[in-house]
Amino acid sequence: MTKAQIGDCPPLLFFDTGVGGLSVLRETIKLLPNAPIVYAADYAGLPYGMKSEAELAARVPALLGRLVERYKPILATIACNTASTITLDHVRSALNIPVVGTVPAIKTASQISKTGVIGLLGTRATVRQPYVDRLAADFASDKILLRHAAPDLVYAAEAKLRGEKPDPAAIEQAISGLIRQDGGDRMDTVILACTHFPLLRDELTEAAPRPMQFIDGAEGIAQRIAYLTQEIRWPDHSEEGIFVTTGDLADITPYRAAFKDYGIGRFESL
Ligand code: DGL
Repeated sequence: MTKAQIGDCPPLLFFDTGVGGLSVLRETIKLLPNAPIVYAADYAGLPYGMKSEAELAARVPALLGRLVERYKPILATIACNTASTITLDHVRSALNIPVVGTVPAIKTASQISKTGVIGLLGTRATVRQPYVDRLAADFASDKILLRHAAPDLVYAAEAKLRGEKPDPAAIEQAISGLIRQDGGDRMDTVILACTHFPLLRDELTEAAPRPMQFIDGAEGIAQRIAYLTQEIRWPDHSEEGIFVTTGDLADITPYRAAFKDYGIGRFESL
């Protein structure tokens, strides 16, 4: 057995720049509590939202290739909207295992919005993606979709998971960035199109000037992962999760308590 393997069970691999992927992992664990988990964070590359498409198209498949080689997962989940909307096809053609992506929940938002005005919060890179234009055209052509880039929310979520207070200004600016757009006064549904943002759902709900629904795709992704792995009967690996970072392992210390809640207690660097 190599040091990276969890017993002899191929794990589920989750990939994000930081803690954002925990919002996807949280829903997955509810359906697959015994699954062995490897959670990879490209801290050396955070924030993806400020990188170019070309940079990400080169970086993400290469990193996932190294992770797959080391951990031999049965399935990889790109638990990051920025990486998924830009690199999903590249990653799928580079890996020989199923790859699940995380893309903005525009279809769901369109189904539940009563006013027909939907907000979308994402990183700078995600809000400008043609992938988002296509989802909007396919599922929300009769709706108004307001987009706003809220890169500071990534740092607010990171702070929260270190046990610090997230910056209230970042949260208020994210909400007002949507509401002040034309039609914003009728917005009733907000898509959290960055996996970091559901970690701030309580703060966003509290900062909103009136009740609105903040939605994300994590539950659907968890169902997809469960469907693709339905043949597997995992023995209990719930407390054996591995965290791996491209950054400095020492920087992870403040996050360890948060990761513990997800059964992750082993920390490695890539
Ligand atoms: N969590 C990532 C996403 O879903 C973005 C964080 C970053 O900008 O690195 O888009």
